[in-house]
Amino acid sequence: MDLELQKNTPIYSALIKYRKSNITHFDVPGHKKNKNTFIAKALGEDIIALDANSTKELDMLSHPVGIIAEAERLLADAYGADNAFMLVNGSTFGVQAMILSVCSPKDKIIVPRNVHKSVINAIILSGAKPVFINPEIDYNYGIANGVKVDTVKQVIKQNPDAKAIFIINPTYFGVASDLRKIIKICHRHNIAVIVDEAHGAHLPFHPYLPDCAMKLGADLSTASLHKTVGSLTQSSALFHNEGLVDLDKVRSTINLMQTTSASYLLLASMDLARSNLALKGKKIFSRLLKKCAEAKARLAKVPGLSVISEDYIDEKDEHGIYDFDDTKFIIKVNELGLSGFEVYDIMKKEYNIQLELAESYVVLAVVGIGDTDESINKLVEAFEDIAKRFYGKKEPFKIEIADFFEKPKTIVLPRDAYFSPKSTVKIDDALGQVCGESIMIYPPGIPLIVPGELITKKIITNYKYYMQQNCVFMSDDSQMGLIKVLGEQQ
Ligand SMILES: Cc1ncc(COP(=O)(O)O)c(C=O)c1O
Repeated sequence: MDLELQKNTPIYSALIKYRKSNITHFDVPGHKKNKNTFIAKALGEDIIALDANSTKELDMLSHPVGIIAEAERLLADAYGADNAFMLVNGSTFGVQAMILSVCSPKDKIIVPRNVHKSVINAIILSGAKPVFINPEIDYNYGIANGVKVDTVKQVIKQNPDAKAIFIINPTYFGVASDLRKIIKICHRHNIAVIVDEAHGAHLPFHPYLPDCAMKLGADLSTASLHKTVGSLTQSSALFHNEGLVDLDKVRSTINLMQTTSASYLLLASMDLARSNLALKGKKIFSRLLKKCAEAKARLAKVPGLSVISEDYIDEKDEHGIYDFDDTKFIIKVNELGLSGFEVYDIMKKEYNIQLELAESYVVLAVVGIGDTDESINKLVEAFEDIAKRFYGKKEPFKIEIADFFEKPKTIVLPRDAYFSPKSTVKIDDALGQVCGESIMIYPPGIPLIVPGELITKKIITNYKYYMQQNCVFMSDDSQMGLIKVLGEQQ
């Protein structure tokens, strides 16, 4: 990486220059940078002044030849990729663009079950055939981790014709699979390796963090710069390495779906985040990692709590935990007699702390570039306090964790199910029917069931459990307790 070049922020710098040029605007956006408009008064003059449309000097995201092309080259260099595309609709869009760039209808794609909803949506859009594999499950913490190299070997043996494999690096909970070996095996079989690095935009910038997909030689990856490295929400990037995937196909797929009015606020924020990471990332993450390790050591001593730290790593790859991102706090709280969902709500209502997500036994707190010693101390103190209040007063909260990770049976391809006639039934009446929609609990947005899968008794029980825990459902039906199934209304 050329650090001298990484000081440049071509989009941000051009935008500042553009602002000063005092142009009279008869193009869009309609606020015309007028500081007396309602929007400038509400959101601030600076936001409006930097909210621009594509012009010759500002370049165009769908056909970059100027400052955006330069910013994308710098981004690729910072992440060790051959090429980079800036995105303005999150890694949700990055995931869709990656899968659609590689998979045609009926092509097989190997996918761990704990993927984000964007993967299922991309499978519907592309018509690809998912070959689901099981991630490794930690029954103690009640979370899904990475995939083992052996699992990948086996699935390739059974599906040597697979076009692609989809790997999450790291998972929402910070766990990385042995991606280097997975890439080697897949490339031997001409299988493209597509990596979801939504939660790993910071990985290339510190040696103690898991390796970044592009540096290991993956074919495509997408990283949500907005999640951990400080750019604005929705800003994300798609990375490409030369080899198995055609660059022009990736570009045309992105242009098939992405807006022609990309937000320069998002693009400039990514430019700034990338430059900051390239120049100061190692120092910033050294500080954060040290603070996280100290905080975890404190939490580990609190009766009733357990926390995942670096010793979770199992390089022998027996549990799909080849590496771990220590900026993630996975705190096990069920010994307090509370579910993770309850602790998530208590933390918000009583401590004014917004956690990232909850599962039955754990809550997840994510540390990002904007965190300070004070914010991390506040998190630790809140957990020390909640443990003092609740530990020993009630029996530990327990459920049958195994039931949540059983893979449903696919009856119809997701795309065929999506486009089939459907009817809506009460969840209790859906037993034995084929599901017509994706149902996710958000966050993390991992599917409980996807279109084309068989609705079993366990799915119904789990649906009702999440409903009872007051989780946020993402499904087609605005009314809880209903589910779409294949077949016309009787
Ligand atoms: C694993 C995973 N992949 C992809 C995404 C989508 O990322 P974005 O929010 O940038 O669209 C998320 C979002 O939470 C995610 O958790």
